[in-house]
Formats: sequence, C-alpha cells, structure tokens
Amino acid sequence: MRSFRDFMEEKVREYYSSPREKFSSFGDFFTAPELDRAFGEAIADFLYYRLKDFDTPVILELGAGRGLMARDILNYYREKDAELFSQITYLIYELSPYLREKQRLLLSEFKNVGWVEEFPEMEGVILSNEFFDTLPVHVVKEDKELYLSEGGEEVWLSLDDERVRGFIRKMGYEGLKQRVEVCLDCIEILRRIAHSLVRGYHLVIDYGYTSEELSKFPEGTVVGYKKHRLRDDIYAQDMDISAQVNFSALMEYGKDFGLKTVLYDTQRNFLASIPHFLTQLETLSYEESPESIERLSRLKTMLISMGDRFKVLFQSKGL
Ligand SMILES: C[S@@+](CC[C@H](N)C(=O)[O-])C[C@H]1O[C@@H](n2cnc3c(N)ncnc32)[C@H](O)[C@@H]1O
Repeated sequence: MRSFRDFMEEKVREYYSSPREKFSSFGDFFTAPELDRAFGEAIADFLYYRLKDFDTPVILELGAGRGLMARDILNYYREKDAELFSQITYLIYELSPYLREKQRLLLSEFKNVGWVEEFPEMEGVILSNEFFDTLPVHVVKEDKELYLSEGGEEVWLSLDDERVRGFIRKMGYEGLKQRVEVCLDCIEILRRIAHSLVRGYHLVIDYGYTSEELSKFPEGTVVGYKKHRLRDDIYAQDMDISAQVNFSALMEYGKDFGLKTVLYDTQRNFLASIPHFLTQLETLSYEESPESIERLSRLKTMLISMGDRFKVLFQSKGL
C-alpha cells in the first residue's frame, strides 16, 4: 500500500526521465515557452529593471523542460543590455537527466549557464513555468487519505499525517466535504526558495486556484495528459500527471517564510501589462508573412485560451 502522493512522485519522475518526446505537437502538451519566444522575452522584459538593481544577479529556473524559456530570456538580455547580460548567472534546477542533457545542448552557446542540485544563497529571481503542478499531492477527503493497493485499487485510509492535518487547519479547510489536495512538496520548495533568496523575487506561472475557488473542484484537480488529450485513466502507463497549484497556500505560507505577494493575476493580464509583449502583438498584426500570422495566433493563444487558466504569482523578499 502506498499513498497517492508517493505514486504521483514516482510517475512524474519516470515520465520526465524517459526519452520519449513530451513537448511540441509530437508530444503530450504545449507549454507557453514552447509556443513562442515572445513568452520568455516578456518575462525578461518584466524582470529587466528589477535585475538591474543587483550587482551580480542570479536567475534560478525550476523545471526548465527543453530550456526554451532560458534561451529566450538570455537572448533578450544579450541583445538589449550587454552589460547586464555579462553580470547574469542563469542556473537550472532540473529533475530529469534526459531534459538536463537537452538543456545543455540548447544552451551550449551561453557561458553563464549552470545546473544545481541545491538552491544557492542568491540575489535575483527564482522562476518557474508549469513546475509546481508536477509536484506530488496528498489527496484527502474529510478524515481520509487516498492510497493505492499493490493491485492498483484506490483505498481510503484514516488521515494520520500530522503535516497534512496542519496544512488543512492552516488553510481553513477543516470540515469541507470535498476532495482536497495537499502539496507539502510545494510548501517545502517554497521554504527553500525563501531561504535561498537573500534579496530578490519569486515568479510562478502555472494553472491553479485560490481557496475561494476550491468548491469548483469537488473531485480535485489531478489529471493526466497524453498526446494533447486530457485523460481520466491517470493510472495508465507513461502519463503526465499534474495537479493544479493552490496559490492561496503559496501566498499564505510565503508570508511565514518572508515572501511578500507583489502581484497575483491571470496570465492574460500579466502579459497584457508587459510593453515588449504588446509591441510584439502589434508588430505581428501588421505583418503579412505566413510566419508572422502563425506567430500572432500563438501569442493570442497565450492571452486567450491559456490566459485565464494560467495564473502568475510574483513575490519579493528583503526588498
Ligand atoms: C511541465 S514541464 C515544464 C517545462 C518548462 N518549464 C516549460 O514550461 O516548458 C515540468 C518540468 O519540471 C521538471 N520537474 C518535475 N518535477 C521536478 C522536481 N521535483 N524537481 C526538479 N524538476 C522537476 C520536469 O522534468 C520538467 O522539466
């Protein structure tokens, strides 16, 4: 018997470590950095003046996939401000050896990129796109937690984990009659982020909800994706499993760890507030080449179909 949390951790590790193509139209899903370089560039633009406040800024990206966002952010700074570019160190924290190798190949032209196992003491920005949703969750309903038997059957056992109970109490979820997902790994990563940032920012982009929206998900938010299709047989082979991010928890625990929420909004509003993104949209809308038309439609996807589902949380520490 093992908890759903342990099952999900193992599935995610296996999934991202296997060499099968996961990203792009041949894979299982698209992420915003995979859609168009405008996404990484917009983030670079958003962070530009903030990074210039530090003498030797560090950018630490968590779960970097194929490394496209890192490439687009670095290219943006190299073109815009050679001095800032020369001061930046870009670090990646990545679980999958297979993806680390892909990132190494893609980013080989940049001499200021490195990979870390631990979060260093740093000034700068820690950022991630679609990372927190891959961290494993405890699935709880009233006083029971979901386990899986050796044969793969769902079994509900009495909820004994005091850390999970503490989360439910802190978030005010006691007495709820629905499924609640408790991502203690998210809280642990957040604690490490806060500990590592001497001064700086934390930027999370992911799909998720706040406590007020919890009742929209009476059966929880865990899903599997394969070949761009949402699947409910999450126990099947080689499946990407994820759970939506509880942003209220990141904000609430963030406070305890010294992380102040500066901004929480939809991806649509976030992108629409960034000058570089708006300029790109406008420029592309005047161009007539097939490539520009295609790019324009990808930027619209980031704003429209992904725009409300994805949320952006921006926190600061020591500033
Ligand atoms: C959905 S992909 C997103 C990739 C990329 N950020 C993007 O937007 O295209 C999740 C990424 O997080 C990594 N990852 C998942 N769990 C992790 C963990 N516990 N520690 C470090 N990286 C992890 C995966 O290997 C993968 O690179």
